[in-house]
Amino acid sequence: MEAGKVRVSLEVNGKAYTAEVEPRLLLVHLLRDQLGLTGTHIGCDTSQCGACTVLLDGQAVKSCTVLAVQADGGRVTTVEGLASPEGLHPVQIGFWEKHGLQCGFCTPGVIMTAVGLLQDNPRPTEEEIRTALEGVLCRCTGYQNIVRAVQYAASQMAEADERREVAAAETE
Ligand code: FES
Ligand code: FES
Repeated sequence: MEAGKVRVSLEVNGKAYTAEVEPRLLLVHLLRDQLGLTGTHIGCDTSQCGACTVLLDGQAVKSCTVLAVQADGGRVTTVEGLASPEGLHPVQIGFWEKHGLQCGFCTPGVIMTAVGLLQDNPRPTEEEIRTALEGVLCRCTGYQNIVRAVQYAASQMAEADERREVAAAETE
C-alpha cells in the first residue's frame, strides 16, 4: 500500500469495494472519483446544500461531511442503487409523477433524503416532510412539487404494504 494511505472496505449499492485512500478523503470524493458514482452531486463547499446526500447504514448523511475512512465497514446507498429489477423506487416515481424537479441538480440529494425520511417515518405529515428537507437546497422548484412527490411516494408505499399484508393473510 502507498505510504500515507489507508485501506477502506465498504459496501456500495450492494457491491463490496476496497480502496486505498488518503485519510482526509471525503466519502463524496470516494464515491464520485474512485467508484464513478457521479449521481451524488457536490453543490457547495460549506456542507449546506445537501446535494451529496446518501444513505450510510440506512441513515441519510451529507457525504461531504463524512470521511471515507468513517464509512469503513459501512453500507452506502447512492441514488444509483435505489432502483431494483422491479423498477424505480417509489420516491423516484413520485418525482416523475409530480414533477418534483426542474434542473435536477439537487434531485439525488433530495431523493436520498426523502428515502431516509420514509424509512424512519412512513407516513409523514407535510410539516415533517418540509422539516426533513430543510437540509437540502433547491434553487428551482419552490419545494411544492417536491413535497407532493414525497407524499405520493408515501401513499404508494403504504398501499404496497397493505397489498402485501392482505396477500400474506390470504396465504395463512
Ligand atoms: S456538497 Fe453541499 S452539503 Fe455536501
Ligand atoms: S431542481 Fe434545480 S436545484 Fe432543485
